[in-house]
Amino acid sequence: MNKFKSLKIIILIIFSSGNINCQNNTEKYSAFHPGKIWKDSNGTHINAHGGGIYYENGTYYWYGEHKGDDSKARVGINVYSSQDLYNWKKEGVALAVEKDPNSEITAGSVMERPKVIYNEKTGKYVLWFHLELKEQGYSAARTGVAVSDNPIGPFNYIRSYRPNAGKWPQNFKEEWKTNPVGGDPEKWWTPQWHKALNAGMFVRRDFEEGQMSRDMTVYVDKDGTAYHITSSEENQTLHISELTDDFLNFTGNWVRVQPGGQNEAPAIFEKDGTYYMITSGLTGWDPNPARSFKAKSVMGPWEPLGNPARGIDADKTFYSQSTFILPVQGKENAHIFMADRWNPKNHIDGRYIWLPIEWENGKPIIKWKDEWGLSFFDEN
Ligand code: DGJ
Repeated sequence: MNKFKSLKIIILIIFSSGNINCQNNTEKYSAFHPGKIWKDSNGTHINAHGGGIYYENGTYYWYGEHKGDDSKARVGINVYSSQDLYNWKKEGVALAVEKDPNSEITAGSVMERPKVIYNEKTGKYVLWFHLELKEQGYSAARTGVAVSDNPIGPFNYIRSYRPNAGKWPQNFKEEWKTNPVGGDPEKWWTPQWHKALNAGMFVRRDFEEGQMSRDMTVYVDKDGTAYHITSSEENQTLHISELTDDFLNFTGNWVRVQPGGQNEAPAIFEKDGTYYMITSGLTGWDPNPARSFKAKSVMGPWEPLGNPARGIDADKTFYSQSTFILPVQGKENAHIFMADRWNPKNHIDGRYIWLPIEWENGKPIIKWKDEWGLSFFDEN
């Protein structure tokens, strides 16, 4: 190959990857490109990992973890806004880490999976997130709450919880409270663990102090009741809890879902009176097959529907992990599966996998698309 030909090829590669992956400051997106760099209106890759979306008056607000090269909270929770879901403007830091080393949300803590809901009664925006205290790894297993008068913040941190201290779940046998089915919480990875776990070994262990809470989401039902859904019991069991009227606390009404099922990354939506949930398995930052469930009520019972992903890389959920399911405004039954493609070697480079929810025999499914737009929902 002569010099000119190879130079031409190099230039072509640079330009074409620029067109597929990027936009400059003036270009606008008119489609989703799952897994590619997704630039905000300043031309910077969106930094809103483990995120969730709140919609109001024609504007979507995307809240997510600000990540640097590691997984610690150095900045806080970012918020972006958009009118069309393709083009996002950075509004700033909705909830900032605090300088005070004694604060629970001091820089160096872990603040993950932020979700915002609006409380009609108080007129406040309520932000819930997974909190791990600085230098304690993932052992604190807490859920934190903050409020604001404005969707873009600033949010004021209120407190964190180990939920449901002193409260038994609704679906817990009377005998499990007083007559444990063996099992040692210290040595729980033993052949008998599943039976003991199912019979509430960790629920009893954490009864006084409150239940563990790691990966989480919050959801407001049609009647205005809000629910907190979290991975608890050493990430083995999901807990779904009703929140108080102001959305800032737990009522004590809660259920266990899939004991020993190892579900993380819960994301929930409703269609035609049925609730659907998509979760991941438990493999740290590595991808695994997603799971799906349906129920007639948020509190369950939840019926497993299997892995919703279809096609190549379905066993890795297209190298991503669920975070939220977004109902598209102004369209009937249009839902977007939002997921993170983590990059633990350089977290800021994590990518976003947004795909439309499709349906197969009454089950929500997801199929890979290199590029797609909202018109997908009109055509399918
Ligand atoms: C998987 C979770 O889904 C993430 O949010 C994060 O907590 C990682 N585990 C940490 O390993």
